Amino acid sequence: MIRTVATTPFTDQKPGTSGLRKKVPVFQQPHYVENFIQSIFDVLPAFKGRTLILGGDGRYYNREVIGKVIAMAAANGVGKVMVGKGGILSTPAASHLIRKYKAFGGIILSASHNPGGPKGDFGIKYNAENGGPAPEKITDAIYARSRKIGEYKIAEIAPVDLDRTGTVEVGAMVVEVVDPVCDYADLMESLFDFTALRRLFEKGFRMRFDAMHAVTGPYAKEIFENRLGAAEGSCRNFHPLPDFGGHHPDPNLVHAKHLYDEMMGPDAPDFGAASDGDGDRNLIIGKGIFVTPSDSLALLAANARVAPAYMTGLAGIARSMPTSAAADRVAHKLGVGLYETPTGWKFFGNLLDAGLVTICGEESAGAGSSHVREKDGLWAVLLWLSILAARGESVKDIVEKHWAEFGRNYYSRHDYEEIKTEQATRLMEGLRARLPSLAGTQVRGLIIQSADDFTYHDPVDGSLSEQQGLRILFQDGSRLVLRLSGTGTSGATLRIYIERYEPDPARHGLETQDALAELIAAADDLAGIARHTGRNQPSVIT
Ligand code: G6P
Ligand code: ZN
Repeated sequence: MIRTVATTPFTDQKPGTSGLRKKVPVFQQPHYVENFIQSIFDVLPAFKGRTLILGGDGRYYNREVIGKVIAMAAANGVGKVMVGKGGILSTPAASHLIRKYKAFGGIILSASHNPGGPKGDFGIKYNAENGGPAPEKITDAIYARSRKIGEYKIAEIAPVDLDRTGTVEVGAMVVEVVDPVCDYADLMESLFDFTALRRLFEKGFRMRFDAMHAVTGPYAKEIFENRLGAAEGSCRNFHPLPDFGGHHPDPNLVHAKHLYDEMMGPDAPDFGAASDGDGDRNLIIGKGIFVTPSDSLALLAANARVAPAYMTGLAGIARSMPTSAAADRVAHKLGVGLYETPTGWKFFGNLLDAGLVTICGEESAGAGSSHVREKDGLWAVLLWLSILAARGESVKDIVEKHWAEFGRNYYSRHDYEEIKTEQATRLMEGLRARLPSLAGTQVRGLIIQSADDFTYHDPVDGSLSEQQGLRILFQDGSRLVLRLSGTGTSGATLRIYIERYEPDPARHGLETQDALAELIAAADDLAGIARHTGRNQPSVIT
């Protein structure tokens, strides 16, 4: 029985950097989820008869929305829904299933690293046939549709038992509940030399992986402990919880401080890592050293050949604009292309599809490759383990040798969270207006070489994305970038990205914040951060 339900549009269903993200109570409003899902189906009528991949990170409200999507898919003529057992799929695993089973697309329920629970965040993201987040032309169309929607279709069906794998028929549609881990773990086994990794653990190598009570727990247990033989207990916080145990499942130095402290302590294991709510981010910490995501990208790219999947080399490297230029130096040495995109994994999709790049990464703790079309936390951990196994050196030695060879890009991001939207806009507008007059002027003794608002011309489809971040480049190669986050759910978050290149190995041992002190002060002089926001300190420093 298919019901057509009359509805009225919501005005706020515009997808951000990574899908539609709002507080749970917003999604709980009558018709809110249904309107958005129907907008997706309306924009993509070719879904009819094809397969849809469905799953989420298990956060609060996941199961309810899974039920609604299945009922609406049946009403809208979808041929088959493949859903992870328990409604669970990590973001990279969902991307893999879309590709492996040649699905038409996928719906991923997650608010990534944002906190969960009844008052926490929820999110819905549509991924296209290539397994990647829908490009802007599709998300814009979904938003436009959501502004006009007048009805949605939903089938009246008995709830599907999500806790048992197998196939059931729901009207004319088939629902297959699949093991969320197996296909993904097999994919990892096809990319990396699991025999070499098993040998590493046999020799007594110790690792700590913190799943932060989020989706990667079952994946990490299976891969590290079961398939690779890491000691039991190597994975921590591996039971996914709907509220992530009350924490932010964000693998950074603030929210994974316990891991950082352990790795800096006297009994630190050889390698520490963590992932986020939906499993696409990574945090890498060696014994006594935190590896910034920008450095990690450069190191992964420089050493990728140790893994069978990358043995023949990389086609190219891509990074988001605010990510440090450490990877550029690697690309230069390898003689491959380096592409600079706006923030958001979706911008890598075309480059990967066109075969222009193999490895991509972002300062926001994301790295991945052409194996899927999302960033992939466990993939990054496995590539790191592969490098450690092949080189037989510590993380610290590997990082320091990398700096000695390429120079060090000191790098930090300062976030001012939950500031008033008007304040944030005023600050950005003020600086944007001054950009044309900045070249040649000095601030804190640093000479500005150029200043602009980043525009991206996609080399594959020719599309243009404007206003992607204010950049101030200094004559000595240092750089400041300011932009507003596109993933927050309350107020605005101002991000300031600070970078300074240091070629001299004698000066590679400075404290990052000290090394960047002048630039940090310059950012305030230029943008009036304290004046506009009333804050003297960032909320998070990564
Ligand atoms: C998500 C996206 C990334 C992005 C990050 C930060 O994880 O997948 O591509 O870099 O959010 O985005 P934001 O707009 O909050 O800086
Ligand atoms: Zn995520």
